[in-house]
Amino acid sequence: MTQQQTAGGDVRLTGISKTYGSFTAVHPLDLTVPQGSFFALLGASGCGKTTTLRMIAGLEEATTGTVFLGDRDITDLPPYKRPVNTVFQSYALFPHLDITENIAFGLRRRGIKSVKKQVEDMLELVQLGDFARRKPHQLSGGQQQRVAVARALINHPQVLLLDEPLGALDLKLRRQMQLELKRIQTEVGITFVHVTHDQEEAMTMADTVAVMNGGRVEQLGAPADLYENPRTTFVANFLGTSNLIEGEILSTGEELTVSAGGGKLTLPRERCSAPTASGGRLLLGIRPEKISLAHADDADTVAPGRNRVTGRVTDSSFIGVSTQYVVESPAGTALQVYEQNIERDTRLVPGAEVVLHWNPAHTFGLDAAQDIDAGATSVEDGE
Ligand SMILES: Nc1ncnc2c1ncn2[C@@H]1O[C@H](COP(=O)(O)OP(=O)(O)OP(=O)(O)O)[C@@H](O)[C@H]1O
Ligand SMILES: [Mg+2]
Repeated sequence: MTQQQTAGGDVRLTGISKTYGSFTAVHPLDLTVPQGSFFALLGASGCGKTTTLRMIAGLEEATTGTVFLGDRDITDLPPYKRPVNTVFQSYALFPHLDITENIAFGLRRRGIKSVKKQVEDMLELVQLGDFARRKPHQLSGGQQQRVAVARALINHPQVLLLDEPLGALDLKLRRQMQLELKRIQTEVGITFVHVTHDQEEAMTMADTVAVMNGGRVEQLGAPADLYENPRTTFVANFLGTSNLIEGEILSTGEELTVSAGGGKLTLPRERCSAPTASGGRLLLGIRPEKISLAHADDADTVAPGRNRVTGRVTDSSFIGVSTQYVVESPAGTALQVYEQNIERDTRLVPGAEVVLHWNPAHTFGLDAAQDIDAGATSVEDGE
């Protein structure tokens, strides 16, 4: 079934925006979703994800801008004339129809009589062959969601839009379905645009993630690139956890030296997305898993050339694969450190004096003019 779906092209939004009265839900946005990619729109509640998706579907009229599919301007096409289908969080299957008839619905509506082969292909694709004659209420949430995906895909859309389709599922099922949806997308090869507020979900599934904040795309990239090279405090805090340490640039060159936390820290200049003039201020970012902890008694065993900060453990949680420490230090009141549980140092308990140390190459630099806590609370609030 892949051959019908090679036509189409990239989804391209140019200057797309949406205002409701005086409120701007989506600021003018330029975005290209490459054909055949798994693309995620990620952001906290109210940032404009659904609005953007609905403008692609034609369910919401754009205030400004143009929607292209390949070279074709589809801005003024009604939803049913766009080669686009949407799967919502509430899968809204027809309760009185069995799974076969639910999946066949789009074909029947277009007057297609011989649906058997296509429905069978779809059932196989979503691995529900044994459930063909069941009613929706006889399926689990994840199975129902797969029916919803099959029901959309049988129309051979060029683009499948998914708005928090896994939001109603419990965590374990959600994880399974993430892999399942990814498999289905790889198999059919069409463009998926997936909306979620769950950063792990976006990173697990998508080739490209667009991080939205307040109606704008803050940064767009491959998951690992976004994680390793956030360019704003919002992205640094929203995507995983970052330690951000404010300092003053002492000297520049290939390597910057920054006075921070009562000492000197260094980082590669190429990892800074901020001005790097001497005397300027900078936020140094370091991910919790990149930091090693040494008890203060062992401070002299830390290799030279590493960034180091002294502090005191205020909290530790044993997670199984890792232990997560919170450390109070002149560089920040709540530095997060994740240590793999290989050989646990039993002296690292609350109250212990410690040295945090890391490879300077793992440090990134952000513009200090931003809110250092942007994006941090949303992570705590998320489920
Ligand atoms: N019809 C409308 N009239 C007025 N404001 C609206 C309307 N629809 C959406 N908004 C506002 O636009 C903003 C973006 O809404 P949108 O539904 O796109 O957010 P979202 O990112 O999908 O959030 P969530 O994760 O909660 O679904 C919100 O502040 C919302 O209140
Ligand atoms: Mg939404």
